[in-house]
Amino acid sequence: MGVSGVGKSTIGSQLAKALGVPFYDGDDYHPKANIEKMEKGQPLTDDDRFGWLQQLNHLASNQLKIQGCVIACSALKESYRQILQKDIQGSVTWVFLSGTFETVKKRILARKNHFMGETLLQSQFDTLEEPLNAIKIDIRSTPDEIITVLKNTMQEKTQFGVLGLGVMGKSLSRNLAQKGFQLSLFNRHVDTLEEKVALKMVNEHQELASALPFDDLASFVQSLQVPRKIMLMVNAGETVDRVIDDLLPHLSANDILIDGGNSNYLKTKERFDYLKSKHIHFVGAGVSGGEEGALKGPCIMPSGDEKAYIEVRPFLEAIAARDKDDRACCAYIGNEGSGHFVKMVHNGIEYVEMQLLAEVYALLKSLGYNLDEIANILASWKETTASYLLDISIDILRKKEGSDWLVNKILDKAGNKGTGNWTTIATAQKGIPSTMIATALFARYASAFKEERVAASAHFEQKKKQAPSISKKEIMEAYQFARIINHYQGFRLIAEASKKYGWNINLSELARIWTNGCIIKSDLMVELVEVLKEQENILNNATLVKQLLSLKPSIKKVVAAGVLSELPIPCLSESIQFLNNFAVAISTANIIQAQRDYFGAHTYQRTDDQTGKSHHTNWSE
Ligand code: 6PG
Repeated sequence: MGVSGVGKSTIGSQLAKALGVPFYDGDDYHPKANIEKMEKGQPLTDDDRFGWLQQLNHLASNQLKIQGCVIACSALKESYRQILQKDIQGSVTWVFLSGTFETVKKRILARKNHFMGETLLQSQFDTLEEPLNAIKIDIRSTPDEIITVLKNTMQEKTQFGVLGLGVMGKSLSRNLAQKGFQLSLFNRHVDTLEEKVALKMVNEHQELASALPFDDLASFVQSLQVPRKIMLMVNAGETVDRVIDDLLPHLSANDILIDGGNSNYLKTKERFDYLKSKHIHFVGAGVSGGEEGALKGPCIMPSGDEKAYIEVRPFLEAIAARDKDDRACCAYIGNEGSGHFVKMVHNGIEYVEMQLLAEVYALLKSLGYNLDEIANILASWKETTASYLLDISIDILRKKEGSDWLVNKILDKAGNKGTGNWTTIATAQKGIPSTMIATALFARYASAFKEERVAASAHFEQKKKQAPSISKKEIMEAYQFARIINHYQGFRLIAEASKKYGWNINLSELARIWTNGCIIKSDLMVELVEVLKEQENILNNATLVKQLLSLKPSIKKVVAAGVLSELPIPCLSESIQFLNNFAVAISTANIIQAQRDYFGAHTYQRTDDQTGKSHHTNWSE
């Protein structure tokens, strides 16, 4: 399809030859009345065209029963194309031959016996409604080039599409290609900034040699086998909605979109519902592991429509990391946005684990160790407390630039992309005391106020801090204690959300997929797989209770000494504060209740009244 002069007959007949199917020129099918009108130079009306388009539709339907065909037809309006593809929509591939007015004019003028004037051509351009669901071809390419592109796109439909080829999208695509999947890759075109991204990527990486690169969305979608499976690897937020809206006109019922970004779980539910109303399946998948994980095996947390997940499972499981029993670190989490919810909490746990290591660094530094020595001490902890974040912290501490350590040159302001914030909001909204996540988040926020911190330090910071009288072993035990509380709080939040939303999340299975590929993989996580099989509240596990009890003296001592030496240890402190506040049979909330009742008549319940009735006292009398 396309305006007169774009080369529909030339390309159409060559394409038909290349595909081994018959070619039909739509103009040969006009009824006599139309031909007479056109000969008189009278334009055809929509009514004139109706029967003709119907006839072409019948032609196409009949040919489809045999082997298919190529039909050339200007089909300038969407309503014409609707008639042409009536009842055969899923089997029609539109090819839109596109060129500028000037290019087409030049071509027409070059033809012998050309009859089309500039005005007539302009009216064609005015009528043209560009199709959204077509393979768009720039007519400046040679016919041979066009046929090659079309043949590739139409014959070799690929199994899986990746949209968005940033750091994560690229690594994930390479991983998929290494597993032998046939891919279509799309990255948008942005003049001078993002040009031919997919093509360049395919040329740069050998494993992607057979992947099809695109920067035209319609052609990308057309290149995929139906039901299409497209993984969105774009920035979380409005971009996801924009991409979904751009994709929708090109998709067919039952196609599957997978959002592999760090999307907000509430937005994922909204998108899930929206796409359901359009008969498109949506899988919200948390993906952890960073660039290296995406390439070598990430941890994947998919959720949404379980039937749709089953369709994409072979792809996701193939690229995921493996656990100790060689099982994929990818498992269906639950309905709606549960995959993004658990990924969000994963990041909350990650924030705490990172903050704890920063605090451990502060403590060890205060004991006078240099960074290599701290790295060595942390390396010795791997025997009992191994984790990915401990590993990378050791590498980080050892990294030198010239004669100094690189970390000494890194500005002490922490960034964030929002998932810690959302976890803190979620824990507050759901009334769950996952306090360490909030503490780690606020520690990052506080760090960002560099100038105010420097000013406050002039007033309040002890110039000569006294080294705390604690040992390396006590610091390690304090760290171990805090990590258990962190994991307790993270899993509790997930358990409560799962109950609230009816997600039925299997916590042990979640811990299992978190044992590899993701940022919070650790030996403790491996231990939790078994613990969570028995109970969702890990503070009820006898072994962990015993461990916490034996570590408790160290956390108390380290936190007390840290506070006396004015060291920044908010998360370590919060771990023991939390337990001190939580593990009490009788809390101080009676005072809070009395205060609420005093000023607001909010009432209270009495310990000597088992009915649970509300009581009120006139306190000032
Ligand atoms: C992961 C990471 C990853 C990313 C976070 C960092 O699991 O692979 O968590 O998702 O690094 O977005 O988040 P902040 O920028 O908020 O620290």
